[in-house]
Order: sequence, then C-alpha cells, then structure tokens
Amino acid sequence: MSITFDASTKTFYLDGKGMTYAFFINEHGYAEHLYYGQPIAHDDLSYTRERGVQSFVVKIPGKENVNGLCYYGQFPTELSFFGTGDYREPTVAVTNAAGDRLAELLYDGHEILSEKPAITGMPSMRGGETLVVHLKDQFTAFACDLYYTVYDDCGVIARRAVYKNGAKTPVMLNRAYSFAMSLPGGDYDMISLHGAWATERAVQRTPLPYGVTSVDSKRTTSSATLNPFMAIVGKTTDELQGNAYGVSLVYSSSYVLKAEKNESGNVLLTGGINDFDFAWKLGAGESFETPEVVLAYSHEGLGGMSRQFHDAYRNHLINPRYVRSHRPVVINNWEGTYFNFDNEKLKAIVKAVAGTGIDTFVLDDGWFGKRDNDRSGLGDWVVNSQKLQGGLTEIINYVHSLGMNFGLWFEPEMISEDSDLYRAHPDYAIGVPGRARCTSRTQYMLDLTRKEVRDAVVGAVNKILRENQIEYVKWDYNRNVTESFSLGREPERQAEFAHRYALGVYDLCERIVNANPDVFFEGCSGGGARFDPAMLYYFPQIWTSDDSDAEERTRIQYGTSMVYPVSTMSCHVSVVPNHQTTRVTPMKTRADIAHLGATGYELDTSSFTDEDRETTKAQVEDYHGMEELVLNGDLYRTEDIYNSNYFGFMLVSKDQNDALLTAYRRMGGAQVETKYLRVCGLDANKKYRVSGLDKVLSGSTLMNVGLLARFPRGDFGTVTHHFTAVEE
Ligand code: GLA
Repeated sequence: MSITFDASTKTFYLDGKGMTYAFFINEHGYAEHLYYGQPIAHDDLSYTRERGVQSFVVKIPGKENVNGLCYYGQFPTELSFFGTGDYREPTVAVTNAAGDRLAELLYDGHEILSEKPAITGMPSMRGGETLVVHLKDQFTAFACDLYYTVYDDCGVIARRAVYKNGAKTPVMLNRAYSFAMSLPGGDYDMISLHGAWATERAVQRTPLPYGVTSVDSKRTTSSATLNPFMAIVGKTTDELQGNAYGVSLVYSSSYVLKAEKNESGNVLLTGGINDFDFAWKLGAGESFETPEVVLAYSHEGLGGMSRQFHDAYRNHLINPRYVRSHRPVVINNWEGTYFNFDNEKLKAIVKAVAGTGIDTFVLDDGWFGKRDNDRSGLGDWVVNSQKLQGGLTEIINYVHSLGMNFGLWFEPEMISEDSDLYRAHPDYAIGVPGRARCTSRTQYMLDLTRKEVRDAVVGAVNKILRENQIEYVKWDYNRNVTESFSLGREPERQAEFAHRYALGVYDLCERIVNANPDVFFEGCSGGGARFDPAMLYYFPQIWTSDDSDAEERTRIQYGTSMVYPVSTMSCHVSVVPNHQTTRVTPMKTRADIAHLGATGYELDTSSFTDEDRETTKAQVEDYHGMEELVLNGDLYRTEDIYNSNYFGFMLVSKDQNDALLTAYRRMGGAQVETKYLRVCGLDANKKYRVSGLDKVLSGSTLMNVGLLARFPRGDFGTVTHHFTAVEE
C-alpha cells in the first residue's frame, strides 16, 4: 500500500486496501484524474484520454491553435476552478483584491509524507502515508494544497484542500470545498440518508440525473435532514456486489456534497463547507484549512463500501482508548421519569437493575439549575439541590455503592432565557442586537465562536466533572442556529459564522472531552441529529435516535450503518407501548435490535418484577457474549427492511470464526411461510456450529442455501443464530 509518483508520465498512483486511485499532471499543469477503482498495475493511463476534438469550447489561455485536449472543462478533475472555461461546479471560488474572481490552480510541486499531518483545530483521521500536491495561480499567488492519505487496513482515501493567500492583500474566499473527484461517464444511482427527528438516516436511492444533485445542511450542524454522506453506485450495484463510491465528510456544521453529471456524462463530485451563507476573509499570507472528506470504494457493493468506512473510522478516527473497549451498559432515566424525579425515584430505578450486568446509571436532563421542564435552566451547570437533596453526591455515592458507574447529561452549547447565565450574560446568546430571536425548545444557543463564551462553558462543565466522581457524560445538542451573528466581529466577517461555530464546538470538545480522558462521552442531538464523523472523533458512540421503537429502529440502524460502525450507535431497550409510536413489540425483539449497537436500557425499572430482572440479566449476559462482534466485527446487511418485510444484520469476526445473525420480521401471517435467511461473510471452507439448529454445516452451504427462518408467530418477531467455527 503506498503512494507512487511516476516522473516519466507525471502520474500519482495511490494504492490502498482493495483500490487504486490515479491522477496525473497534464501538459497544461492541470491535476487531471485518471482512475479510481479495483487495484491496477502502474501502467501509463494516457490512452484513456483520447476524447476527440470538441467544438465550441473555451480554450485554455494561449492554446487557441491547439486541437483536442486544451479545454479545462473536459478534464476529469482533482480540483475545478471557475473563470477560464470550466463551467462545472468549482471546488474553490475566490474574489481577488482587484475584484476579479480568477484562480487558475496549476501544478507547483508535490511532497509525499510518511505520516499525515493533523488539521489545525478540526478532527481528522489519524496516520497514513500522505501525498500533498501544490497548486498555484501564477498571477495572484493564490494557492491550494491537495492532501491525499491512503491506508493499509481500509479502502478509503482521506482528502482535503488547504487554500493559501500568497498575495500581499486579503482575498475573499466565497467557496472553499475540500475535494473534487471524477467518475467516468455512465449510468449511476445516488444514495443519501435523509430524515428528521425520530426518522434519522433513512436510505434514499435515486437515479443520478444530468445537472447538479446535492445533499446539504444550512443548519450550522450536520443535521438529521441529510447526513453528510453520499454514495454513487452503478445501476446494478446492490448490497453484495458492484462498484460503490462513498463520500463522508468529517464535519459538524453547514455542508454541501454535490454530484454533477455534465454534458459528456462524466460525474464530478465535490463539496465541503457549505458556501451558502459563507465568505471567509483570507489575509495576506494566511491559510484556510478545509474539513477532511473520506472517500470509500468497494466492488463488493454497498456492504463492501460500508465495511471500508467502518474499518476506517474504527482504526483511524474514533478515540483509540474506547473504540474497541467494553461499552458501558446503561440504565438511563429519561424515558423512565422525564423531568419528574428525586433521589428516591432514581435510587429505585438503579436498585432494580443492580446485579443484572447493567453497569452504568445515566442521569439525564433535569438535574441542574431550575429545570423542571424544557423551558428554563440551560447554562446553569450547578446541581439543583432542592430536587436532588444532598446534591449530586447522594445519588453518585449510591450508584457507586452498588458497584455501578455514574453518568450525567449536559447540553453545553445552549442557554435558556430563564437562567442565571442569561441574566448575567444575555450577550452570550446568538442573535442580532435589537432584533427578536427565534426560540426552539424554548432555548437559545451560545455564541461559541467567542472565546470568552467557550471559557465560561468549559469552566462550568469541568467544575462538575472535577468535583464529582463521574465516569460517563451524555453531551446533547437540541436546536439549530438562527440569527447567526457574532457580537464584536467585523461586518465583513459575519459570514464566517457557521464555520467558526464548528471550530468553537471542536475547541469545546478538546477542552472538555479530551481534558477528561477517563470520562466516557456519548454524543446526542435531539436523538441522532448530529451523527457525523467529526462528532465520532470525540464521542465513541452517539444516541442514534429518540425513537426507541424496535420496528422503527430497524430502519434507522440500517441507514446509519451505511457509514457508521454498529458500535457507534447507542441503542436502548425501552418500555411498551412505545413512547414515540405507541407500538407494542416483544421484549426479546427490543433487546435483539438494541443489542446491534452499544446497548442500554431506558425505562422506569423501579416497578420491575423478579421475572423482569431475570430477563434483563439474561439479555445483558447475551449481549456480553456478542459484544466482541459489535465492537470489532464486519457487518453484512442481509435483509433490507426498506424493500422487504425483513431486516437482517450479520456480524462476523475478522477471523471468520464467530458470527451472529439477527433477523427480524415486521408482519407475521396466518400461513406458514418459507423464508430463507441470507447468510454472509463466513469462510466457505470452514464448518460452523449453528445455534438454534444444533447442526454443523459448512460456510459454503450456509451462504448458498441460507437458513430457513423460524420467526415466532405474530408481528415484530426476531430470530438470532450464532455461528461458531469448529475443527473437523
Ligand atoms: C434529547 C435527547 C434525549 C433526552 C432529552 C432530554 O431529546 O435526545 O435522549 O436526553 O433531550 O431533554
């Protein structure tokens, strides 16, 4: 696995696990894309360029007498720019001091680094051999460095661009995307993950039309509306086979990802920070770093693409201390009590599950300030000792005395109008002076673009963490920015807000999450509305959705798994009738689905019977038996709940000695059905003992014949099978 430069053809070959990516510096000094797909030899790929003469095109300055390859818009590109004949989506748009908007970015050298440099102030993948290609405009000295990193252990390329103002006067960056990438002409489908509260990351597959198709957020967060991800796949690509190209942005603010099919049928992918409501004044000599984008390729269909993302994020993005370690199995009180609790109530909830294997109690919203509903208190990170007599110490000591860990909920980025913080510092809330502000969940947001505001939050949260023995934090974020404006920043810098907010959140995470390395942090955002790779850099797991109904969770977890490993999905068993949908599903189903992630429980356990306790104990034991597969296994989506009555996830250990299949049937029927469950990812040549069948069968048989499904009668049933390799 490596990066190679062939000086004779000026071609860069990037060889990662299961893929080759190639581009070269063409006769005009332009970074021209050549190939992205299955591994190939380092042949001269110039024969792929013979595209014939094109008429009525704009020729590169000075090339008017040249026929053929002399038009920027015809080159598959690594970075597109506007104003010199390329009418595709530009990767960068700049206004120079004179007012012109030209930046003709051509080759100016390259370096190959053995280790990837981190991005200043932004999360990014760790490690990996890295190519840096320097591009420059010879007239203005505006420049761009393109970074490419490849890995031995996953089929992804991490990419980003750094823009540099080499001029003596400031320029305005009107667009500063992270990358451009080209795919050859063809019929493609696009896959994206859309949603809203309680329906996060629903899978959408549409034909890719001519023109520009995009996914984006203008919410100053990555959002539930569209996840910062898109995949471009061949028409016949499915879960198991076919080319799949995934794009995943490591960013938590307003973003855009675009796929443009141009007049010749070629496809240009580009994107990064959303240039809507964005402008960045770049002073003389300054640089602008863009967020990293992770490109995944697989010829093994969508499943293969997902497994590349999963390995990439587990091996190189998520905190190595926690990513593969045993996850807390929590009892969270939110759905059990909402705001209505006191010490006695909480103790009863904890006591009922002590000894079941549930090892962490998480005290959710309502423990601080004046907070009996969602209309007050945010920002006052001081215990409400009227509600919790004895302060936090009483409940923390109780939890610890039962041998369990203690977790606490915060929403650090927020402020309620009815709070001491707001009364002392109304200017800390985001808004335009003299103008009414929108509320959402009766709250405002803190202006984290300002250092003094971040200092106040860091001080208050870290004080609680310092003064109490807290092992776990749930970091919530429950509204989106409106009236984006920052007091004290010059008018021409106000459109920097959305990106500066992201930098503010990252700084907060550095100073709270990284400053408390022994505390396990879980992310959250009104359910799973900020489930993105940048947050996963800080939070090894994220609350997947406020929708805890097992039926709906199958779709949410299926969609989320397109990009994110199952171990990043926090999933809880809750009560029935379900609070979000009123649906009643069997307890076994709720546990089987919640166990396909970082599992936990979220219900009022104080009324548990002995039988409930025993059931829970058995479930947690079961979970511990499969946790290794949740943390480290390869995921195969064996049944598609979007297009069938069934959901299926199969987790297979890397050595293929161990596997678990969980299948779910939405609707049962009166007739006995014959349904064979698909089995994937085993070693065809190994023999496996299959639980529930009491048989030893070979991998080849299991994967080709499948397993006859034996769902329980009725709706919403599950079956699980463990596969254990046996010596013959
Ligand atoms: C959000 C979260 C919930 C819970 C509440 C508390 O909705 O997603 O899990 O923490 O906030 O207010």
